[in-house]
Amino acid sequence: MSEKLVIQSHRGPYTVAFDDTLLSDPARLFEGESHFLIDANVARLYASDLHVILDHPNTITIEATEENKAIEKTIPVIERLILNRVRRDHTLVAMGGGIIQDITCFIASTLLRGLPWRFVPTTLLAQADSCIGSKSSINLGSTKNILGTFNPPRDIFIHAGFLETLEEKDIQSGVGEIIKVHAIDGIDAFDRLAADFDRLFDFVQTESAPFEQFHYFMVFRNFRRNANKTVIDKLIVEETHIKQIGDEILICKTSSNLE
Ligand SMILES: NC(=O)c1ccc[n+]([C@@H]2O[C@H](COP(=O)([O-])OP(=O)(O)OC[C@H]3O[C@@H](n4cnc5c(N)ncnc54)[C@H](O)[C@@H]3O)[C@@H](O)[C@H]2O)c1
Repeated sequence: MSEKLVIQSHRGPYTVAFDDTLLSDPARLFEGESHFLIDANVARLYASDLHVILDHPNTITIEATEENKAIEKTIPVIERLILNRVRRDHTLVAMGGGIIQDITCFIASTLLRGLPWRFVPTTLLAQADSCIGSKSSINLGSTKNILGTFNPPRDIFIHAGFLETLEEKDIQSGVGEIIKVHAIDGIDAFDRLAADFDRLFDFVQTESAPFEQFHYFMVFRNFRRNANKTVIDKLIVEETHIKQIGDEILICKTSSNLE
């Protein structure tokens, strides 16, 4: 187990652990009675690492689609949890990207008037952005993110190795969120980002291709720190692979793709 960050929220503090050994001992994610809600692709791709979780009778596998994030589709998941005799002192554990996070957080907020939940984000978007902030948003039919709650997980476990299997579009989506986190920091931050945006965009479109080998993150040097940015920065370990774009933007390789 490596470093931990403590994030303050309206419900008290919660922790973010950077844990590169998670897949060698996933049993440590069980705490008391746990009910795992796992992204079906993650379950397929990491079947042998995660067998202790996947073989557990309380584990529920969910295809991460926007259709499955609709309230109508959460009902069968809730029914499964009830069949599995979920109780208020049990814990839900989400493992997946933003979709599994939103479904789990929403159920944890409402089922039995609230259950504790933990989160193992497996996409770049979820590791770098959505895991911080406590929000859940689910869809009503085709109306996206119309229902939701604020309900922080009790703890978050970030394992950068999960990013190795992401598809290009999901890496790009995460890169977009990282840019957003910095762009909304304020007028000055936005202007500094805008000044180098064309070069950044060119890098992402051309130099960094093929994206399958793109385990890079962007670090913005002189921007104010907040929890999201601290998480993003901590994903960077390979200082020798830094490429600078303009004055502010560094592109760095992460731990998940060391040569
Ligand atoms: N609650 C929040 O604060 C918040 C913030 C931003 C976005 N969101 C929501 O998050 C959703 C998008 O989430 P996302 O981009 O994290 O991805 P996602 O959950 O939509 O997953 C994208 C794809 O990646 C797959 N996947 C997940 N982990 C993988 C891995 N390690 N290897 C290979 N494939 C993997 C999934 O199966 C899916 O096919 C949207 O519904 C959005 O509304 C929520």
